[in-house]
Amino acid sequence: MDLDVRIRHITEGDWDDIVALEAATYADGALSEGRAALRSRARSSPATCFVVDVGRQLAGYVLSLPYPVGQYPDLDREEEVVFHSRNLHLHDLVVGEAHRGDGLAGELLRRVTTAARAKRYQRISLVSVGGSEGFWSAHGFHALREIALPASYGPDAVYMSMPVAADPRPHRRNPSTIRRADHPRMTK
Ligand SMILES: CC(C)(COP(=O)(O)OP(=O)(O)OC[C@H]1O[C@@H](n2cnc3c(N)ncnc32)[C@H](O)[C@@H]1OP(=O)(O)O)[C@@H](O)C(=O)NCCC(=O)NCCS
Repeated sequence: MDLDVRIRHITEGDWDDIVALEAATYADGALSEGRAALRSRARSSPATCFVVDVGRQLAGYVLSLPYPVGQYPDLDREEEVVFHSRNLHLHDLVVGEAHRGDGLAGELLRRVTTAARAKRYQRISLVSVGGSEGFWSAHGFHALREIALPASYGPDAVYMSMPVAADPRPHRRNPSTIRRADHPRMTK
């Protein structure tokens, strides 16, 4: 599909769309957090939060912020401190229903991973909700079921984590060792 896709940082004018998308996605499962809590997550780490536009429409967002390994935001509370941690917690990633299956979540995750690497995070964690564990596993996250989660995250919530891989860009390596297969085809 030929989509006019753009991933960018969140701006002030995006919040009505983000809040509406979050509410439409999670209201049924009682996981919706509301504007103040969502904004507080992004305020903690603007450099690791993004939206994706398809044409002129906001089609999805991702919020990630530093959190100690094994900890996660309280859905009922705004962030009060910014943690100093080498672990980046991907708190929420949503793609609007009309745009699912087009690879946008994968692109948002790739952008978060690039930002995490640039900021020298060592790991990315998340709490999988709503039966999305398979999606995250496919992207390299491993379940850590020993980490207990509160009921507020829903009955099938699972804490997951993955290491931030080393920079795959060829210029960081000895050119004589680069094989043809080391050059992934860029999608964007
Ligand atoms: C999960 C979500 C972000 C995926 O967005 P998307 O843009 O459709 O994902 P992509 O197009 O990048 O990837 C689609 C692939 O993921 C798979 N996938 C999507 N949702 C999945 C799920 N819940 N479980 C397992 N696999 C899933 C699709 O089958 C597809 O696989 P394929 O490429 O082999 O065909 C989207 O469905 C969503 O916003 N869901 C509601 C919010 C949510 O649950 N977010 C995660 C919170 S932790």
